[in-house]
Amino acid sequence: MVQGSANWNTELTKEWLQNYVDDWISFYRKHITDGEVASYIPILQEANPNHLGITIIGKNGMTIRSGDVGIPFTIQSISKVISFIAACIERGVAYMLDRVDVEPTGEAFNSIMHLEMKQLKKPFNPFINAGAITVSSTLIGNTSDEKLESIFVLLEKMLGYRPAVNVDVYESERDSSMRNRAIGYYLLETGFLESDLNITLETYFKQCSIEITTDDLARIGMILSNDGEDPETQEEIIPRQIARIAKALMLTCGMYDASGKFATYVGIPAKSGVSGGILALSPPRVRDEELPFTEGCGIGVYGPALDDKGNSIAGIRLLRHIATQWDLSVF
Ligand code: DON
Repeated sequence: MVQGSANWNTELTKEWLQNYVDDWISFYRKHITDGEVASYIPILQEANPNHLGITIIGKNGMTIRSGDVGIPFTIQSISKVISFIAACIERGVAYMLDRVDVEPTGEAFNSIMHLEMKQLKKPFNPFINAGAITVSSTLIGNTSDEKLESIFVLLEKMLGYRPAVNVDVYESERDSSMRNRAIGYYLLETGFLESDLNITLETYFKQCSIEITTDDLARIGMILSNDGEDPETQEEIIPRQIARIAKALMLTCGMYDASGKFATYVGIPAKSGVSGGILALSPPRVRDEELPFTEGCGIGVYGPALDDKGNSIAGIRLLRHIATQWDLSVF
């Protein structure tokens, strides 16, 4: 049986929290069988569905790791947060918000139904594929590698190392993703793209194939939680205004057509990807009782068995449990 509510007023030591998180991970492993690994990108089927891991990093550096951490996986849709931030830094917020809106769709991440039916002036938001491909087209550069540079520079500043593209995953998506090509052609026809279609798609497929770990996601989350500043060095990595827009988008659009439920039952900004990763964060919060990570934290989850919306099934349930136990909701 999973451990229930604790009296967090007792010692909030790392060991104490570690024991709880270990217990919750082993409980939520049982939920893995309710989900399935993504298969529409063929190589993603090779992931081990039984993996479930989490890293939590507090602003003060306290780190809890539990389960299958340290396993590299591709960032997939979580890259949409990074590319949007990189594009806002390069081009300015006004320029980007002229080209992508900030409204949830209630539709699947790869749908273009509304875009066509409503004859929109811009894609709904940068986290659906149509919006993310538009964002990739705005990144500065003449080749996909030049365009990706601003994403890598940002990641390197946050992670302290430069992650790499998993070429097998890139090629698997490049050779199979007819839906994204269809979206790309639609965007081209309607004049949304700022760059050549093939270079834009190459950029998008490569950014989705960047390999990271739960530690990396937790670190990105922690910096976003701290409004874009690295708490250790006080360096502003992401301007505060851009960090805030990114967090608002994560809360309203980060879990696709499950974003409303996630906001209701978990209540923290998060972004998922079809490889099973979730980037989440808890902003600093004030409560009467003593609770873990009140100064804010970043959370990285990996669990490749997905629900029918494309979100990690055990990962979401685990986050819901942690958010309830530690009163993380921003509402
Ligand atoms: O474009 C795609 O379909 C993938 N590269 C990324 C989709 C994704 O991660 C959506 N996640 N829920």
